[in-house]
Amino acid sequence: MEIRIYKDDVQIGKEAALLFASQILKKRDCVLGMATGSTPLPTYQELVRLHESGMLDFSEVRTFNLDEYVGIDRAREQSYYRFMFDNLFSKINIKPENVHVPHPVSANLSDDCAAYDAAIAEAGGIDLQILGIGHNGHIAFNEPSGVFSSGTHIVELTQSTIEANQRFFERIEDVPKKAMSMGIGSIMKAREILLIATGKQKAQAVKAMLRDAVSPACPASVLQFHHAATVFLDEGAASLL
Ligand code: F6R
Repeated sequence: MEIRIYKDDVQIGKEAALLFASQILKKRDCVLGMATGSTPLPTYQELVRLHESGMLDFSEVRTFNLDEYVGIDRAREQSYYRFMFDNLFSKINIKPENVHVPHPVSANLSDDCAAYDAAIAEAGGIDLQILGIGHNGHIAFNEPSGVFSSGTHIVELTQSTIEANQRFFERIEDVPKKAMSMGIGSIMKAREILLIATGKQKAQAVKAMLRDAVSPACPASVLQFHHAATVFLDEGAASLL
């Protein structure tokens, strides 16, 4: 695993966007795995800048997002679907039909999960997956547990994740309790992975991910087993290494 430490999140955003840009330049119709949350925002801003300056064409690019809440309307500001359009997709020339965000709406949610995995496989798999990390070491919504999950599945959010996501909702009671999430197996299938962590509040999770033995108690630690995983940290997130 390659670990690179940068001064701040702005510098990380620029470097991460370059990785995306080189992937798109190598393969115009590449498949990108996208994340929401605060961490990828500087990267998305830089991708928009590169697109606006005429350097990056997203017209053939396809994307699959990691996760989405269960029971939230896509039009709502807190939905991950809306987040992606507000922060990236509406600002670049990606085709709406090439964008995929989990959409758990069927009577049997496991059908939506199976259909999502099938769509990723049909697209040829993910070329480059971007990840953030939760304070408890989660990736996507794969929370600490006794086993690594495999494919896309429905997750009960832990109290720590509900509290961390409360900042996007008026009241903690409004945070959904369930989500649809790619599994650890789906994430590990990506050909290349970039995990970004910024801020001192992520230092403990980063230490567990990189220095402890691989264990589902820290889902992100599984990246130690990935053949092409890179980790970008700022000085705060790297402070316990
Ligand atoms: C988001 C996701 C989550 C976040 C993680 C960190 O799609 O899958 O695992 O990456 O919760 O969130 P931020 O970046 O807001 O600290």
